[in-house]
Amino acid sequence: MIVHNLELETSVLDHFIAEIRDIEIQKDAMRFRRNIERIGEVLSYEMSKTLTYSDRSVTTPLGEKSVPAISDNMVLCSILRAGLPLHQGILNYFDDIDNAFVSAYRHHTTPEVFEIKVEYLAAPSLDDKILVLADPMLATGSSLVAVFETLKGLGNVKQVHLISVIASQEGIENVARSFPEDTHLWVATVDPRLNEQGYIVPGLGDAGDLSFGSKL
Ligand code: URA
Repeated sequence: MIVHNLELETSVLDHFIAEIRDIEIQKDAMRFRRNIERIGEVLSYEMSKTLTYSDRSVTTPLGEKSVPAISDNMVLCSILRAGLPLHQGILNYFDDIDNAFVSAYRHHTTPEVFEIKVEYLAAPSLDDKILVLADPMLATGSSLVAVFETLKGLGNVKQVHLISVIASQEGIENVARSFPEDTHLWVATVDPRLNEQGYIVPGLGDAGDLSFGSKL
């Protein structure tokens, strides 16, 4: 897997990441969602540099200009519900790509032990498509692995791009073992460890709750 950790270069992205981590700023759910969206936009821009382009001609009021246009067929798939603001950020840049949604949640047998349940799936064919799989918190990596297993039934993807906001080192290693070697991971920042409940430390807490409120 090819890992692109954008925090290795300082940029305005660091400001967005600081805000989503900050326990005081997190009280503003709209700002939290919008910052996740902005991070999705930055990650998308970086990812766009690796896509395939072919020239097309654009007519201006004064003449013709040949411009590169993305020629890859892409499907953006997000995991409900925490993935929704990240999904919107990516869609802001790749505005006419196809979309897929899948639900995956941790079913706990004890507070420390859980299995991933994948239930809802709405997706087009993935045959020969570039699959962009978005998950804001790459913690253990188990959700991404379980979702990818489900998506394999929808066709042979050409290439996978994973987009995450915060990843744990352990999660990256787990995902690297289960995805094709030419998979790209675009991540805004990487944290060193997970706690006993599988949450990223220092991380930011629960991205779904911070975006949409707590659940039972
Ligand atoms: N999901 C989250 O929202 N946060 C984590 O730290 C891990 C998984």
